[in-house]
Amino acid sequence: MSGKLIFHIHTYGCQMNERDSELAAGLLLEQGHQQADNEQDADLIIVNTCSVRAKAEDKALGKLGLLLASRRQKPDLIVGVVGCMVQRMQQDLWRTLPGLDFALGPQHITRLPEVLQRVRCGEGPCLEIDECRPESRHQPHTGGKIAAFINILYGCNRRCSYCIVPRVRGPEFSRTAAEIIEEARGLLASGVRDITLLGQSVMSYGRSNPVWPLDHHSPRGFHEPLPRLLEALSALPRTARLRFTSGHPSGCTAELARAMAELPPVCEHLHLPLQSGSDRILKLMRRGYTSKEYRQAVRRLREALPDIAITTDIIVGFPGETAGDFAMTADFMAEMQFDNAFIFKYNPRPDTPAAAWPDDVPDEEKMQRNQLLLTAQNRHSLESNRCLVGRTLEVLVTGPSRRNAARWSGRTRTNKIVVFSPREHIQRGDLITVPIDSATAQALYGPQARVDPDADRNSGKEKS
Ligand code: 5AD
Ligand code: SF4
Repeated sequence: MSGKLIFHIHTYGCQMNERDSELAAGLLLEQGHQQADNEQDADLIIVNTCSVRAKAEDKALGKLGLLLASRRQKPDLIVGVVGCMVQRMQQDLWRTLPGLDFALGPQHITRLPEVLQRVRCGEGPCLEIDECRPESRHQPHTGGKIAAFINILYGCNRRCSYCIVPRVRGPEFSRTAAEIIEEARGLLASGVRDITLLGQSVMSYGRSNPVWPLDHHSPRGFHEPLPRLLEALSALPRTARLRFTSGHPSGCTAELARAMAELPPVCEHLHLPLQSGSDRILKLMRRGYTSKEYRQAVRRLREALPDIAITTDIIVGFPGETAGDFAMTADFMAEMQFDNAFIFKYNPRPDTPAAAWPDDVPDEEKMQRNQLLLTAQNRHSLESNRCLVGRTLEVLVTGPSRRNAARWSGRTRTNKIVVFSPREHIQRGDLITVPIDSATAQALYGPQARVDPDADRNSGKEKS
């Protein structure tokens, strides 16, 4: 079977999954298949799944159930599932979702063309879940993007007691700097202006396997693999913005702070999950830092980059979290004044150490704690955004605003959304400056945009 297919991909989960879906799409496009914006037009539908919380899995399972049922009207529809849930459920998938054509764990996305071929020759269903290093050399993108992701580090060697990721994404493995630089070159040539380097614990880049040749010379004298990579990527032509995510306090070294401060394309923005402000809970979570160490990491970054926006993740209702522990988290968040925070209710995940402990914070209490932190964070986000009113910020234009097509939106270097009135010649991907005249917790607003004459040079840090 070799006819061309129309495919559609549903994506749940994090930025890694977004990138994996794009990789899957890139591989299928290379084979001549076509991507459809909606599933009704598709004869191949892939669901890319997340296992981090049961809710994410339930959504994907619900979607897959509906797709398999829709085969009654469309018997030739091919349905596949990829991602973290495949690695977690393994053979159970066939029982839960009879009729599925293929299932690929997150390390096996690059095998999609070959597996699809097998399915179309009647050799399905196929399951690929062996633990292996992902094939990292050929990582196509789909094109037409302003902002893109590059995977630099697969898997995770940390052992946070609540987290399923090390189990489903395997041990850490870093791609070589040469591969990453090549991929970035291609993206920049295709018009990408904002590159985010991805890794579960991205600051561990190059710590478990060598990524630089021994004779590599860092012009600025960096010794650590990530600062060296940022330096090399910053030197590529047309690199406008660089980011990396997610961070860990132990990786916020003086050298990384220096790299962030000195290299113009590296944005003043870091996602640095805190999870809890209580040292007792941090220890039970096996996070590998205390609140004091987290504070020191933030101080180091803010000293080097006074404008840095720091965002975070928090888990409420971890086993044994008392009202006192929770109050410490709320106080710590007030002290840190994060630019944004994602708050999650603890959810026990199979085969994680914490799943063996009593899930003893009642759901109602988890909900209340979640709500309290959301309300507090809304206040902090509003305060941090209001501080930017009166300043003129560099904005990367992403296109007409979703809510009101007469206004356009873009992102600051700190990754905040800016909504503004466009001038005639504005285009997606332009770097402009926008004076900010008002703010909400969610966005910044500017009346007019001026085209930045320096936009195509490696622009400086955010201007005030
Ligand atoms: N329950 C709730 N939240 C979780 N996260 C990870 N595992 C769990 C879990 N078992 C959250 C963490 C992480 C984010 C991606 O998801 O805050 O940083
Ligand atoms: Fe991403 Fe973790 Fe969800 Fe996998 S389980 S998709 S790594 S958030």
